[in-house]
Amino acid sequence: MEDTVLTDIPVSYISILQATAALSFNMNSDLYTGSLLKTLAASKPGSRILELGTGGGLSTSWILAGMDERSRLVTVENNAALLDIAKVQLADHRIEFVLADGYEWLKNYQGEKFDLIFADAMPGKYDLFEETITLVRSGGFYLIDDMLPQPNWPLGHAEKVRKFVLNLETRKDLVLTKMNWSTGIILVVKK
Ligand SMILES: C[S@@+](CC[C@H](N)C(=O)[O-])C[C@H]1O[C@@H](n2cnc3c(N)ncnc32)[C@H](O)[C@@H]1O
Repeated sequence: MEDTVLTDIPVSYISILQATAALSFNMNSDLYTGSLLKTLAASKPGSRILELGTGGGLSTSWILAGMDERSRLVTVENNAALLDIAKVQLADHRIEFVLADGYEWLKNYQGEKFDLIFADAMPGKYDLFEETITLVRSGGFYLIDDMLPQPNWPLGHAEKVRKFVLNLETRKDLVLTKMNWSTGIILVVKK
């Protein structure tokens, strides 16, 4: 098996990379995380999916590629220029693009729970985790990447990560697998 062989990269992938590079944005998820997101999205027909931290839509493009016609995605981003890239590249009636602060959005959200949450911003991951995991349906997925040391981690972030993982590991309501692959993935299922 060669995991670098990816034959199903979304068509908008290159144009999103180019558009985000023009904004000097360097936090796009990698191909492996994208591929996993597509697979997870495809496992839940008719699903409700939440992405926190759209960026320019690279991970969004993979999620969309895995969704069936009945699935719906809400993706939240506080940077209008980045969200505009995603909106232009991925215009699709199944996606709701939300320009909002993730902290505010999470505190105010009162809608249905989700079958898959990709938490790719501070709110939903290191902050407001409890509020976020509550939004995952029983049997649903919560996915995070960048759990292995990254060049852009600020001072003190490694300790934050260590405590966060420890908390995940001690919870009785979650089942999880840590993958030393891609940028370091943790796939969580809510019991
Ligand atoms: C790691 S990047 C997301 C990358 C994207 N998911 C991808 O894989 O291509 C994190 C994103 O979260 C956004 N962000 C940071 N703080 C936020 C907040 N408080 N509310 C909403 N979005 C936020 C940043 O602007 C950035 O685009």
